[in-house]
This record gives sequence, structure tokens and C-alpha cells, in this order.
Amino acid sequence: MNESVAYSEEAYSQQVNARRVINGKDDVVQLYPIIHKFAWEAYQAANANHWLPTEISMQKDIEQWRSTEVLTEDERHVVKMALGFFTTADSIVANNLVLAVYKHISSPECRMYLLRQAYEEAIHTHSYQYIVESLALNEAEIFTMYQRLESIYNKDNFVAELVPDILDGNFKTGTFASDQTFLENLIDFYVIMEGIFFYSSFAAMLSFRRRNLLPGTAEQFQYIMRDESMHMNFGIDMINKIKEDQPELWTETFQKRISNKLCQAAELEESYAHELMPRGILGLNAESFEDYTRYVADRRLISIGLDARFKVKNPFPWMSEQVDLTKSKNFFETRVTEYQTGGALEWDDF
Ligand SMILES: [Fe+2]
Ligand SMILES: [Fe+2]
Repeated sequence: MNESVAYSEEAYSQQVNARRVINGKDDVVQLYPIIHKFAWEAYQAANANHWLPTEISMQKDIEQWRSTEVLTEDERHVVKMALGFFTTADSIVANNLVLAVYKHISSPECRMYLLRQAYEEAIHTHSYQYIVESLALNEAEIFTMYQRLESIYNKDNFVAELVPDILDGNFKTGTFASDQTFLENLIDFYVIMEGIFFYSSFAAMLSFRRRNLLPGTAEQFQYIMRDESMHMNFGIDMINKIKEDQPELWTETFQKRISNKLCQAAELEESYAHELMPRGILGLNAESFEDYTRYVADRRLISIGLDARFKVKNPFPWMSEQVDLTKSKNFFETRVTEYQTGGALEWDDF
């Protein structure tokens, strides 16, 4: 720039009004004025809850895993299969975020949170690697499981449906069709992958803690679930903001399509849960996981303004009380202090 441009209130306020999650006309490299407060708050809450897997001791887990008397074969299977799912799921989410989503988000404050989220996905993958290494599991077996187990592959494939369209160099938001595609991709990842596909595994992994088994592994999954609950809530806020800015995208046909998609996702998650725990584990029966998935799917439908489809009772109230279904802000208000003082999170009802 050859000459300086005088500051103008008028230009500034126009810029404020133009700020949008997608299709904004503003300057993506300057943060102020922050319009999407949900993104800024999520970014700050995430920083306040920073953690690293290597801070958590795996000593007890190693002893229990080596012992022939502590864990059953079914319980070992759950740990390995859940890791098999997550090792690739977090990478798929991160790749979608960085390579497909990020460049089309025009809100600088949303971009700030996306950067934080991408780093957290790396921390999660690090965490699975740390658990695999600590328990001396077969790395190749775990990290390539998605290629061999249909119930994992199908979930990954289901959410990745629209990624190639968005990765296409010619893809641009700003048309009815491309904006619907982009919105659907956000729903696929934030609502289905991070909001439905993670939850049988979370419930199973956290149930270990209730019997004082694999405490280091379970503690890492608690932190991961806390992060994921934030990711999902942030995604839902973005989705609802796009709907508010461009209500024309939310057609009857599109709503039906999304509602059916969430039901199909619930079915895929039920098949996965059945393979994960064919006989139930740790006092939780296999059928209750089906109800749990349906309950979670209903909550996700409602969160984006659609009607519940299953209307079942939550069989695991201890999950919703503690973790995902409380609004992220309240969730963090009660947890931040414990973490910041360096102690492990205490989950009273576990
Ligand atoms: Fe993650
Ligand atoms: Fe995530």
C-alpha cells in the first residue's frame, strides 16, 4: 500500500455488519470487532483447559493390563477396538478441518477456534499413541483397524461423503448448492462424527473408571470427551448461525435429508457398538448402548432445530450429567478450576 488510509467509522461499521461465518465480506486477518462471541469464548475455555497426555501416569494401567486377573477378554477387546476407531477418526476430523473447512470460514474469531481445535485433534491422536505404547499394544493392528473392520470403515466413510466436493479446487461458497454442501459437511463432522460416532466408545471407556480400571486411560478419555463436547457445541453454534444468516438454505427437503442422515448415523453407531461390546461390559448391557445412541441422536437433532425421532430415555444418566449434553459454558465453569490447579478432574458420580 502506497499511502495510508484514514480510519473511518462508517467503513468500520459496514465491516461489522458484513461479518459472517461463511460468505462474509470482512477482512479475515483482523480479529476485531469480535461478532461471533461463541467462538471467542470457546477459544478461551479451550486454552484454560489445556492438557497433554504425557502428564497422566499410566503405571496402574500397565500393571492391570499385564495381569491376567484384572481384565476380561471382552474388556481388552473394547479398549483395542475403541482405540482402533479413534486413532483414525481424529485424523479424519483434523484433515477435514484444515484442508477443507478452514479456508471457507470467513469469521476470524471462528478461524481462531478452528486453529485451537486442530491442535486438540493432534493432542487426541497423541493420546491414543501414548496409550498404545504404554500398554505395548500392536501399533500396526490398532492404527490400521479402520481398513479391516467394516463397522469402523462405514462410519468414517459416511462422514467423509462430501469432503472431495469441498476439496475440489473449484469449490467456492456463495451459491445455494455449494452453501448447502458446506453446511452439510459441517453437520457430518460436528454433529454426526463428533456428536454421535464418538459416544458409544466414550461411554464404554468411561465406564472403566467406575470400577477403578485403567485409570490413566480413562482419565485421558475424560479430557478428550470434554474437548469433543466443546468442538461439537462450537460446530452447532456455527451451523445455527449460518442457518440464521441464510435461512433459505434450510429447506424442507434439506431438513428431511439431514434428519434421515442422523437416523442412519445412529444405525451405524448401533452396529459399531454391538461389535464393540457384543455381551456388554462392566455391568452395562449391550441393548442399553442402542438406547443411548438413539437418545444422543435425538439430542443432536434438537440442537440444530429438528424434531427428535426416537424419544427414548437416557439409559446412562451419568454420561449426560457429567459430560456432553450440558451446555459447554456451564460444563467448563464447574471444571476449569480443578484443572487449572493441576489436579486431575474429579467426576463425582463415576
Ligand atoms: Fe478429537
Ligand atoms: Fe474433535
